Amino acid sequence: MARIYIKTYGCQMNERDSEQVAQMLVARGHVLTSHEDEADVVLLNTCSVRDLAEQKALGKMGMLGALSHQRPVVYGFLGCMAQSRGESLLQSVPHLNLVVGTQKFHRVAEYVDEALSQQATQPQDLGGFSRTDDLRFSIVDVEEEACSQNSIRDHSLATAQVSSFVSIMQGCNMHCTFCIVPFTRGSERSRPIQEIVKEIRSLVSRGVKEVTLLGQIVNLYGRHEFPQQDGKSPFVQLLEAVHEVSGLERIRFTSPHPIGFKCDLVEAFARLPKLVEHIHLPLQSGSNPILKRMHRTYTAEKYLALVDSIRDRYPEMAITTDIIVGFPGETEEDYSKTRELVDRVGFDNAFVFKYSTRKDTPAAEMADQLPEPVKEERNHDLLNLVNSWARRRGEPLVGREIEILCEGPSKTNPDRLMGRTRGNKIVVFEGSERHLGQLFPVRINRSTGYTLYGDPAIFS
Ligand code: SAH
Ligand code: F3S
Repeated sequence: MARIYIKTYGCQMNERDSEQVAQMLVARGHVLTSHEDEADVVLLNTCSVRDLAEQKALGKMGMLGALSHQRPVVYGFLGCMAQSRGESLLQSVPHLNLVVGTQKFHRVAEYVDEALSQQATQPQDLGGFSRTDDLRFSIVDVEEEACSQNSIRDHSLATAQVSSFVSIMQGCNMHCTFCIVPFTRGSERSRPIQEIVKEIRSLVSRGVKEVTLLGQIVNLYGRHEFPQQDGKSPFVQLLEAVHEVSGLERIRFTSPHPIGFKCDLVEAFARLPKLVEHIHLPLQSGSNPILKRMHRTYTAEKYLALVDSIRDRYPEMAITTDIIVGFPGETEEDYSKTRELVDRVGFDNAFVFKYSTRKDTPAAEMADQLPEPVKEERNHDLLNLVNSWARRRGEPLVGREIEILCEGPSKTNPDRLMGRTRGNKIVVFEGSERHLGQLFPVRINRSTGYTLYGDPAIFS
């Protein structure tokens, strides 16, 4: 039995993959620890979307190397950076043992056991436990594996969660010119509807009330595998099937691509009441020439028309987005188009990213890479605008009674509880044990934009 420390960088899909890895390790008799100092196995599940995320994971791994001066420790990089850098990581990190890519999460537990048993047979008295030489045991597995999308399906039994992520597909074929994901996650592969429904039924039987369906371009789920039926895309068919699961209260999904967000999906929100009023709809830029160079295949006008059609139908819909500033060749005029669009849509929230050059992507080769201070300035300016819209979107909720699903203690103040509205706004309130995992209305009495504060209304 070993004590396993897992740290996850990046998106919800990575969190979900880590959960799968954790579950398989626990099933083999290991225990998880949140204290890195006592770990026998250190696994960092990595993100490659921006350079900063890679540097953080590399820095952390370097720092944790010191643990092996006291006792034997197995070190592993998992996920996106493992996939994109592969074996070369063994050279840059001398104490690293495992490099396991994005299609091999289901093999991690096995590799950890192999490394542990190798370690047990090695002499430990040659200048401490650190193995920074040829004696080091290592496994690199970054191969593609057919059907690996079906291997992310087990959930950890340990925690009583009320909301759960469900990976419905892997990979992305869109090839946005800035993005490394198609290289790290491979091409699109979707799981069958029945398997996803089975997984969700089992989650619900264990107390889960809300699921978030995950995919890189989630609305294009199944487009290579399953046919349209009665004018409905495979994704809408999946939503209908998931909606049938009794006991499930809320369905979220992230992230859709504006391309392929068709009428059948817009309509689905009216027919399927468990689908919540929140859409995360990555924009990336408000300038048409930049969108074209990003290979986003829509225009600012088309994006806006989609948002308008959603808002016309569902005025309560919360809309959030991702935006990149400082893409190669982005002029002041291009940037001002992004600003205008942000002002026109008035997003409930937005993730703003400074463009980060990713090796081997088409944008990395483009002329007119912008200097860091320009990216910095636009990032700062856009964040201010986004924050002011978040406040404006939060204000009208003050004084209203809104349903929340209580997830547990607030991260910023563990004496209070937190839950989410259907529109994905966080609500912090003073509650008690009986609120945990429940759906109930809360009267909102204050808003900072991203966080609302309230009192349980009836359920007290
Ligand atoms: N479709 C995916 C997107 C993955 S990447 C999803 O489901 O979320 C998440 C976000 O990171 C993208 O929407 C984009 O805004 C940002 N991003 C991707 N590559 C980037 C890069 N090279 N530099 C800066 N931001 C990037
Ligand atoms: Fe990346 Fe574009 Fe796919 S942002 S994940 S290539 S839709």
